[in-house]
Amino acid sequence: MPQLIWINGRVMPLAEAKIGVEDRGFQFADGVYEVVRIYDSKLFALDEHLERLARSSAGILLTMPMAAAKLAGEIAALTARSGVAEGMLYLQLTRGVSPRGHVFAPEPHQHTLLFYVMPLDPPAAAPPGVKLHRVEDDRWQRCCIKSIALLPNVLAKNAAAAVGADEAVFVDHGVVTECAASNFFAVIGGKLVTHPVGAKVLPGITRQILLELCPSLGIPVSERPLRESEALAAEEMFIASTTREINWVSHWDGRVVGGGSCGAVTRRLHQALRERVTG
Ligand code: PDD
Repeated sequence: MPQLIWINGRVMPLAEAKIGVEDRGFQFADGVYEVVRIYDSKLFALDEHLERLARSSAGILLTMPMAAAKLAGEIAALTARSGVAEGMLYLQLTRGVSPRGHVFAPEPHQHTLLFYVMPLDPPAAAPPGVKLHRVEDDRWQRCCIKSIALLPNVLAKNAAAAVGADEAVFVDHGVVTECAASNFFAVIGGKLVTHPVGAKVLPGITRQILLELCPSLGIPVSERPLRESEALAAEEMFIASTTREINWVSHWDGRVVGGGSCGAVTRRLHQALRERVTG
């Protein structure tokens, strides 16, 4: 069966879908996106993702083209048709096609809304280890918007790949903010520390779920800026995202960190997240 895409209300093979040359997403990165995990043919935390999509959309002065409940229904229908049991759904919303110009026309916009499903490997039973590569955080001040303007993240991730690392970690004037496509956490004195969401940190859905799980696990949480020197001395470091779940950090710029093994707090959170997914 060909890979299907839902695009502006029509379902067709992905290879046949077309985007206009003057789509503002293509010319200006004028759009937002979401990545939703599919486990056992079910969309995980879809409501939370659609809430964040609405916030991102409002953040770029773009009205959602349809109500969340209707969108959720269309997404569920395409996911069922895709036949993918373990995978992810990619959704993108742009301000659509209009004659090129920085100033956008008043509403209503001719949105381009699309989503499609991609298979992923089933989740790992134990958290995998990852190597981080440190990059200066040169992104804009509105990282809480899940914008499709990802070039700084793309370049950071490629710099990481070039030195054999798995993910880039952004450091903003000595403070660890987040990673190129995941949130960053450290365990310091038994407490989970992560940078607050906002100008420099995306409100990750995995992050949100992990912070919700912490009280019942008896893990204290501190949302505060975290200096690079503190992170390097932390008992544990891990990163989290929809596609990665939780990965413990084994190396930071080639140096072994966190004792070189997956820490106890990381392991407990990974287990609790797995139970949340399967439960
Ligand atoms: N990335 N921070 C950034 C910059 C991200 O791009 C992501 C997700 C996260 C984690 O958010 P969540 O838990 O909602 O996935 C944090 C997705 C997976 C991506 O771009 O593919």
